[in-house]
Parts: sequence; structure tokens; C-alpha cells
Amino acid sequence: MAELNQAQLLELVNTKQIAAGNPRARALTQRIVTDLFKTIDEMDVTPDEFWKAMDWLSRLGQSGQVGLITAGLGFDRLIDIRMDEADQKAGRAAGTPRAIEGPLFVAGAPTTQWETRVDEGEPKGEIFVMEGQVLDTDGQPVANAMMDVWHANEVGGYSHFFPGMKPYELRRRIETDAQGHYRFRSFLPPGYGIPPNSPTSELFEALGRHGKRPAHIHFLVVAPGLRTLTTQINIPGDTYIDDDFAFATRDGLIVELEKNVAPTGYESLGITAPFTRSRFNFVMQKALNEDETSPAARMARVTAQA
Ligand code: DHB
Ligand code: FE
Repeated sequence: MAELNQAQLLELVNTKQIAAGNPRARALTQRIVTDLFKTIDEMDVTPDEFWKAMDWLSRLGQSGQVGLITAGLGFDRLIDIRMDEADQKAGRAAGTPRAIEGPLFVAGAPTTQWETRVDEGEPKGEIFVMEGQVLDTDGQPVANAMMDVWHANEVGGYSHFFPGMKPYELRRRIETDAQGHYRFRSFLPPGYGIPPNSPTSELFEALGRHGKRPAHIHFLVVAPGLRTLTTQINIPGDTYIDDDFAFATRDGLIVELEKNVAPTGYESLGITAPFTRSRFNFVMQKALNEDETSPAARMARVTAQA
């Protein structure tokens, strides 16, 4: 087998085997390698182009930014669209729409009952309270639901990823009360942009694309017997609301803002002057199996299976 043409080489790569291996991994790798061989041939990829791409992939991995690329190339939203389609087919499209987790969730945020200050007592923008209930699709309140909330700081950075921020800054966990209520105080975050001078920004510059997300707040809501809900809300009025680099905004998730709300009743959140409020209920589906109730975020699920 000293001499091979392209087709013979591909056949060998795709069929070599000394053990069963993992059939799913074999099938997916065969398909991807076949498609890449085809791309290289049809697009006449030069050796320099190929090795430049491999260097970029290595640097991307080292930078920990793979999750930024998957979002920006539409894969995170694709996975959501496919789950929405499966729900439609199964007649269970209901409740609050899902929206991508994004690459910046961190488990283990400090937990409080029913209300909290996500901003840790340091107002850094327009004072904002979000409140409502967690409900199931029958409209019943969900007591003791656990809600992770996370958002960017006043310059668009997330703690644990952006230098100079405290651990769990702008990350909190709220446990709903007996009537499913939650509320928190924070500030209205600005939009987000991919880090400059990074493997991610290199690709988006080469594609002639921006790397901006409109202002948003992330949620991961977990409750016994209910399907884990990963979603985001969007703040209306943002320039990028219909031009999100991660393709993740959804109509049902753009909240209404009430301005100049009277502070009465919000003293426990340190509010003494009129503020901005949004009321929003999270509606969770019944879980069909235990896996759907899993509290684990996407990377925790991957490592649990390893
Ligand atoms: C990315 C950042 C986010 O804050 C987010 O919610 C989704 C994606 C990103 O950089 O890819
Ligand atoms: Fe985000």
C-alpha cells in the first residue's frame, strides 16, 4: 500500500479498526473526515492554509474560547432549534422558550431564599429589579425551584473569565419561596462583545463580522419533576437585539421594563428611590424522565458522562 490516491486514503482512514471502539464516534468521525477531505480538494486548500487553520485551532483550545466560536457560528442555537423541533413533534412545545446557555456559566454561586442582590451592594448602572414566579405548565407555582442568574458587568465582562472581577461576581442562585416567587436587584447590564486580540476575534475579523451580543441576563432553573430550563432575557432597546452574534435572542424573551416604580416594599433590597422593574414568570415543562430534571449545565453533563 505504498501508493494511494485520495479515495483510497479516505477509505483506509475510515475503515481502520483493531477493536470495536465507539460506533457512534466512528460514524461521526468518518462523516466529518469525509466532508473535510472533500472541502480541501474542492476548495483547493493549500498546505499553508491548512497548517494555519490547525495553528488557529490549537490556539483556540489553549485560550479556552471554543465555546465562543460554537455560539458565533450558530451551533448553540442550532441545538436549541433542534430541541424545539423535537418538542413540536412530540406535542410538548410549552412554557418559557429555551435560549442558549452560552460558554460563561459557572456552577456553585452563593444561594439565598427568594430574594437577593445579584450586584452585591455595588450599583454600577440603572437600578433594576426582576421579579415573578416559577410556574409549571398547569400554572401551578413551583416552590423551592433553584434559579441560577448570571450577567455581565458594566463593561460587558463575566466573572471567572474577565480579569479583575471577584469570584461569583454577578452570579447568584435563588431558591423560590412556597408560592414560587423570586426577586433580585441588580443593574441593567450593557451588551457583550467577544474579547479583542483573541483567536475568536481573529476569526470574526476574517469573516467581516462583529462579535456583539445585545444586553441579556442568563437563567438556569431546576426543580424536582420539571424539565431544566436554560434561558436568557433580553433588555429592550439594545442596538443588537436583532443582530446578536450568537443568534440567541427570541421574541418571547424580550422583557418589558417599568420605569419609575415606587420604592415601597423594596426596602429589603436597599431601594429608597424610584427604580426600573421587570416582572417575568418562568414556566417550566413537566419532565418525562429523570435526565430532563438534571441540574447539570452543559459542560458538567459532558464530564459526568466521560
Ligand atoms: C458568548 C457570550 C455570552 O455572554 C453569551 O451569552 C453567549 C455567547 C460568546 O462569547 O460566545
Ligand atoms: Fe451571556
